[in-house]
Amino acid sequence: MKKKGFTRRKFLATATTAAITTAVSSPFASSGLTLLHKRHNKLALLGGAPVRPSGPIGPPWPYVDEQMVDAIVKTTRSRVWSRIQSPHGTVPTFEESFAALIGAKYSVGTGSGTQALSTCVEALGIGPGDEVITSPYTDMGTISSILTSRALPVLVDVEPDTYQLDPDKVEKSINKNTKAIMPVHIFGVAANMERIMSIAAKHNLKVIEDACQGPLARYRGKGLGTIGDLGCFSFQASKPIACGEGGAVVGNDEALMDQCYTVQNHGTTRKGSNTTIGPKYRMNEFEGAILTGQLPGVRERFETRNANADYLTSKLKGFAALVPQRHYPGTESGAYYHYGMTYHKEHWGVERARFLKAVAAEGVGLGAYIKTGLHREPWVDHILGLKSYKAMYSPARLKEYKAGMHLPNCDRISDETMVSFAGSGALLAGRDEMDNIINAIMKVYENREQLKTL
Ligand SMILES: Cc1ncc(COP(=O)(O)O)c(C=O)c1O
Repeated sequence: MKKKGFTRRKFLATATTAAITTAVSSPFASSGLTLLHKRHNKLALLGGAPVRPSGPIGPPWPYVDEQMVDAIVKTTRSRVWSRIQSPHGTVPTFEESFAALIGAKYSVGTGSGTQALSTCVEALGIGPGDEVITSPYTDMGTISSILTSRALPVLVDVEPDTYQLDPDKVEKSINKNTKAIMPVHIFGVAANMERIMSIAAKHNLKVIEDACQGPLARYRGKGLGTIGDLGCFSFQASKPIACGEGGAVVGNDEALMDQCYTVQNHGTTRKGSNTTIGPKYRMNEFEGAILTGQLPGVRERFETRNANADYLTSKLKGFAALVPQRHYPGTESGAYYHYGMTYHKEHWGVERARFLKAVAAEGVGLGAYIKTGLHREPWVDHILGLKSYKAMYSPARLKEYKAGMHLPNCDRISDETMVSFAGSGALLAGRDEMDNIINAIMKVYENREQLKTL
């Protein structure tokens, strides 16, 4: 369905254009659209001038400054390289600062986000025969954390416009073996935590938040990761707070957080007693140093990303062809690991791949994010063939499990509709670059007939 009146305009972010826009009477008058200049009428893919020169938008990522370099040098010279060498090392210091930053009482550092999630599954006593409900639209680390404890990750479909777990489908998937829900705050924007927490309370389930993409983001007065029983973060190199590989668990329950410490410390308590099963998932002091060194600017960068994301969203308002990720009521801010949009092919007349190629030629790199939901990956058949899973779950349950891997919304998002870009660096760029993103999208939209000739 073509929206009339949209073809002659483009998005621009200046006071002048805003003034022009309000003079235009159309269903899109609030969106900041203006007449497109003549020279923009040939797509760069066909030899026209691009909107911007090719190359990354925003500063290179991961972020580096002298304070971080100094912190690494200091740690090297200190010879305190493992967290167990000192209670005042960089890891304990980071744990304290990070907990305060996101509003949790306690934090335990780990070697990755996957390790943080695994630590929580083990600390909550979830194991063989148990089931954990989570999203298929995520990093393999989410699911790996459940598999590592030989529990069963039950994947339920996501909503097409938020890309987050559908709470109705979560509730329908609960059975007597379900022990926990692991919502993923995809792109660092809140899942529907109001519904998920109430479903968990009704069925007496634990909630482990996969907030790996969401440091500092907030929902209904709370930081992501602090709403459920435990929350997990990743500091992998692409994340908004990064140290190469690293992670953290946060929580408010002292005994449970002590158990998390023990699990990630190969089963050894803070006092040195060997009490349980646990791998060695400790964060090391170099990771702690680089994280502690970057904390001073973290909030400012988070706010800049939010301001730029809000700006893009305001510019796309009313544009039915590319719709920003829908946020649930109560979402106060996002970490914007990615800025995601839903591509509506019916408005473009061409497949997403062709649009992505055209917009890239205009100098703006947008992508399709993950290539497939995790329910379509080989690990499913792999675990179904394992002796351990066959011993734990009945043939009927495993058959039903495989049949449940039909998740059409997730398929559609990965195959057809997701358009996104990584926000850690790009959303720190100036407004001129945000305008370039919008103008590139709009230029391709206005000239979409040309795409059909390619
Ligand atoms: C949603 C989500 N969960 C889990 C992980 C795993 O984190 P890590 O790569 O630090 O192990 C990631 C990392 O990309 C992620 O994005």
